[in-house]
Amino acid sequence: MSDIIESLTLFSKRFNVDLANCFPPLDGAENRVIEAMKYSVMNGGKRLRPYLVCECAKMYGVPYETAFPAAASLEMLHSYSLIHDDLPSMDNDDLRRGKPTCHKQFDEATAILAGDGLLTYAFDYLSTALVIRPEIRLTLIQLLADAAGAFGGMVSGQTLDLYAASDGNPQHDEAIISRLETMKTGRLLRYACEAGAVLGQAPQNERQTIISYSRKIGQAFQIADDILDKEGDPKLVGKTLHKDDSQNKFTFVSYYGVEKARNLAQNLIAEAIAEIQSLPHPTDNLQALAQYIINRSF
Ligand code: IPE
Ligand code: IPE
Ligand code: MG
Ligand code: MG
Ligand code: MG
Repeated sequence: MSDIIESLTLFSKRFNVDLANCFPPLDGAENRVIEAMKYSVMNGGKRLRPYLVCECAKMYGVPYETAFPAAASLEMLHSYSLIHDDLPSMDNDDLRRGKPTCHKQFDEATAILAGDGLLTYAFDYLSTALVIRPEIRLTLIQLLADAAGAFGGMVSGQTLDLYAASDGNPQHDEAIISRLETMKTGRLLRYACEAGAVLGQAPQNERQTIISYSRKIGQAFQIADDILDKEGDPKLVGKTLHKDDSQNKFTFVSYYGVEKARNLAQNLIAEAIAEIQSLPHPTDNLQALAQYIINRSF
């Protein structure tokens, strides 16, 4: 556990410096939105998605510098999703990453614009990244748009998260939760891993193994998030707790209860580790990260 924390910390130090450099200040009052974007991106995320991009790419000899634009644009997009997720009209959260949410620190209109700005800039940044070959860049742009969007991507998942309703049939509920989690959280985590495989021009069968690993860690990741919401340490989590219950969210934890959900997550991680281990590359960090995803305290 401590090795993966050390590896993530080292990675984050370098990544954070490079990411901060993506946000040069503007003259004039419009700088407010850049400040809000930078505030939300630079306020202490775990950087799991960029780490996954870079680690998956590294298996194929792709250096950090080449993977960085894919990693940075994904973290921008993820941060946009969090800003909007926290808005009063969505989860109405005051705390994110241990600090006031964007709309609390600035105001609601600025937070909406900061989200718009990050989403747009993510694609701008990725599409102009000359270190990535044009055909690979185009594939990444298309995959990222698909993962983030409204046709089965993160936006679909967020919509289900807010509006899915039970029809009283437990089997239907289970199917809804599974679809919801796969889209809301799973798609961006899948993209993180797949982007590494695309950057590395991984053979098709290896790409499929990487995708399969990503789906399993994605589902386990959201279960861990839901367990932390229910019984995390408020001093460590950095988010307001017990929101899922109070907002009647559809989660694996609400459906199965904590113990069963935890077992499910553990099984998924064991499977993910076995799969990634089957690749003919060094995968120690990816294995350890999978374990960290369910053992984390924030
Ligand atoms: C939180 O993601 C949102 C979910 C998808 C559950 P993370 O837990 O990766 O958030 P940060 O980036 O570390 O703050
Ligand atoms: C948010 O899920 C997922 C996205 C932002 C796409 P949650 O609402 O569970 O995330 P937290 O708990 O607020 O971080
Ligand atoms: Mg939410
Ligand atoms: Mg939320
Ligand atoms: Mg949550």
